[in-house]
Amino acid sequence: MAVPRITIREAGSHTGQTVEIAGWLYNLRKSGKIVFPLVRDGTGIIQCVAVKSALPEAVFDELKGLTQESSLIVTGQLRAEERAPGGVELDVQGVQVVQRVPESDPYPITPKEHGVDFLMDHRHLWIRSRRQHAILRIRHEIIRAIRDYFDCNGFTLVDTPIFTPAACEGTTTLFECNYFDDEKVYLTQSGQLYNEATAMAFGKVYTFGPTFRAEKSKTRRHLTEFWMVEPEMAYATLEDVKRVAEELIVFVVRRVLENRRPELTTLERDLSKLEAIQAPFPRISYDEAVSRLQAKGSQIQWGGDFGGTDETLLSEDFDRPVMVDRYPAQVKAFYFQPDPDRPDVVLGVDVLAPEGYGEIIGGGQRIHDYDLLVKRIEEHNLPREAFDWYLDLRKYGSVPHAGFGMGVERCVAWICGLEHVRETIAFPRMLYRTTP
Ligand code: 4AD
Ligand code: MG
Repeated sequence: MAVPRITIREAGSHTGQTVEIAGWLYNLRKSGKIVFPLVRDGTGIIQCVAVKSALPEAVFDELKGLTQESSLIVTGQLRAEERAPGGVELDVQGVQVVQRVPESDPYPITPKEHGVDFLMDHRHLWIRSRRQHAILRIRHEIIRAIRDYFDCNGFTLVDTPIFTPAACEGTTTLFECNYFDDEKVYLTQSGQLYNEATAMAFGKVYTFGPTFRAEKSKTRRHLTEFWMVEPEMAYATLEDVKRVAEELIVFVVRRVLENRRPELTTLERDLSKLEAIQAPFPRISYDEAVSRLQAKGSQIQWGGDFGGTDETLLSEDFDRPVMVDRYPAQVKAFYFQPDPDRPDVVLGVDVLAPEGYGEIIGGGQRIHDYDLLVKRIEEHNLPREAFDWYLDLRKYGSVPHAGFGMGVERCVAWICGLEHVRETIAFPRMLYRTTP
């Protein structure tokens, strides 16, 4: 009978059986007449035990001399072993080397410490390492949870375009592309404007895709290409945005805690910090945020936007995300609905993650009045023609509506407890990095 091929993730339920595992040599420890290959297969890492006396000499020697990241298929019997990660070890009976990494050109990432530039240059290989692997698994879990949340709460996924004719979030951060016949288009900064159209067709929608910002920022929170999920709701207000944002974050964090505990442990994440992420989140106004910041010694004046340091200072006071609303109109995009009681501020909200991770969500209520929107487009010096279709939405059954955008990478950085967003995506794009 053929030996069944299993994944390392499944190994725990096959103890006592002889199985085959196809993977790569993660590491190899030698101790006289025994070698301990650590094999990874993408689903996990398993320790194998190869005893010289139990194997044909050629097989033992080949294994003993095998180089890091060589691809191999091992056959052997699974044995419960309490001390082993995953609770099982494999006693090797046979090995088929698929490709041997040559000694003359060894795998560049060794178990010793490497600088971050070196690792980023080898990102295509670095993602095989335990820590990077854990982060990207958590990223997947977060994306799956986001989709589940919206899919289960009556939102329709409607994808929005990446080539766009106009700015959504300010003209200074647009990547311009040459389209055909000298036509210029821009890489999307946000799917929001299209979401507003699809929300009028479907009620509750979301879009989820890559977005681009030509920001020359070198901070630990900025990428030039990042993924954003953006829900939009017809007949909705700023309060609906806060409620949905809070539910979404609680849902996502809970799912990661349920399904990705081993990965969080690999990252040495303090789980109590994530367990504290429960509704209700604190809600403060921009005015209050400014007072709090001034009391902490920030130079911020009313009317200014918060910098990264201000966001960190604000989040220090809370053990869960804080929602800051009603920003001055001048620091926000053209489409925000003014507060009817106080037209100098807008019905927008930013959600700041705890532990200094900064803004993870931005959103609010949109202008639904035609004349006011035209006025804002003019005040912001935006090309009116490019917004004709957007203005149509205010002519044909305009209703109050609202939505938000959540940046996936900032969320991943926060939930994983990472220093920098560059590790939250397989191939980050930053000011000085477009390779590999
Ligand atoms: O606050 P932003 O710019 O909001 C919008 O784009 C709205 N049109 C969204 C909407 O209402 N539909 O961006 C939303 C989020 C931020 O809170 C942040 O998490 C993330 O996108 N983000 C970035 N993430 C990584 N790198 C960057 N350069 C980012 N810029 C924004
Ligand atoms: Mg924002």
